Amino acid sequence: MIARALPIPAYTQEIIEGLTSPRKALPCKLFYDELGSTLFEEITRLPEYYLTRTELEILETSSQEIVRTAGSPAAVVELGAGTARKTATLLAAIVRRQIAVKYLPVDISPSALGEAKRRISAEVPGALVRPVVADFGQGFGFLGELPSPKLVLYLGSSIGNFDLSDAIAMLRAVRRQLLPGDCLLLGTDMVKSPAILLPAYDDARGITAEFNRNVLRRINREFGANFDLDSFRHLALWNKAGSRMEIYLESSRPQKVTLKLTGTVVEFGNRERVHTENSYKYNRSMILNMLSDSGFTLAKSWFDSRKWFGLHLARA
Ligand code: TRP
Repeated sequence: MIARALPIPAYTQEIIEGLTSPRKALPCKLFYDELGSTLFEEITRLPEYYLTRTELEILETSSQEIVRTAGSPAAVVELGAGTARKTATLLAAIVRRQIAVKYLPVDISPSALGEAKRRISAEVPGALVRPVVADFGQGFGFLGELPSPKLVLYLGSSIGNFDLSDAIAMLRAVRRQLLPGDCLLLGTDMVKSPAILLPAYDDARGITAEFNRNVLRRINREFGANFDLDSFRHLALWNKAGSRMEIYLESSRPQKVTLKLTGTVVEFGNRERVHTENSYKYNRSMILNMLSDSGFTLAKSWFDSRKWFGLHLARA
């Protein structure tokens, strides 16, 4: 049998630059291959990971009011929809006020979108589901082609995975495709005690560690690399001054890793870290500033009883 060459992934440049920079880093979109998306689903059900459950609780209590405040959207677009586990409540509240709604879940994971489509079609018969496989790097042109009024959902505090300037650039790019009166519903995790934050990103069963290390497994597969997953430790730290959780993989020994596809050799010192993700935690003024700097006006926010998580409706 002839050994087939590996295709060269689109994010190759990013990965090589990240691994060869003096402060090693990997892009967080690498998390979401098929196994990564499944592991993330498991994370959202962990007792320590309060985010998904809390946001769902707000949606279950406040969907009617959110929809009333947003008006009657002709199309709902969900950025980073994943398997759309939280969206049914909101869509159900919409079709209670109007006959039908177009629902466009957007994600980089085709497998997650397949499940989103099955789930929403079954749970909300009035929703016409049209999945869009896209990477936000390609822009939001598809938004401009949809009927208005539109409601754009960006839930799960995924916005927190961007640094502030990138978050504003991303929201502005969304804003540019919207008409006045179109709405954005933004989910944000709020600043809280590290005693709650740390376990949410480092659970007792080690699912989050497995999810983090899965990026190395993916690089092994896609780049013919030889990362030894057992010699990288999952690390979750609270950076108070930066208002963010920082996630790393830390090498537990000096080692060399080779990426056959590109011929790159990466050296790791003992305890050297690779940064894999930030997850910003917000307060009210951070949210107000972020929204106004990207061309939105906050209409109303909804919180759970502990104010751990917020949903913000903003108008273009
Ligand atoms: N967007 C999620 C978050 O910031 C992603 C996430 C959850 C994550 N747990 C993680 C990313 C652990 C990296 C490592 O909450």
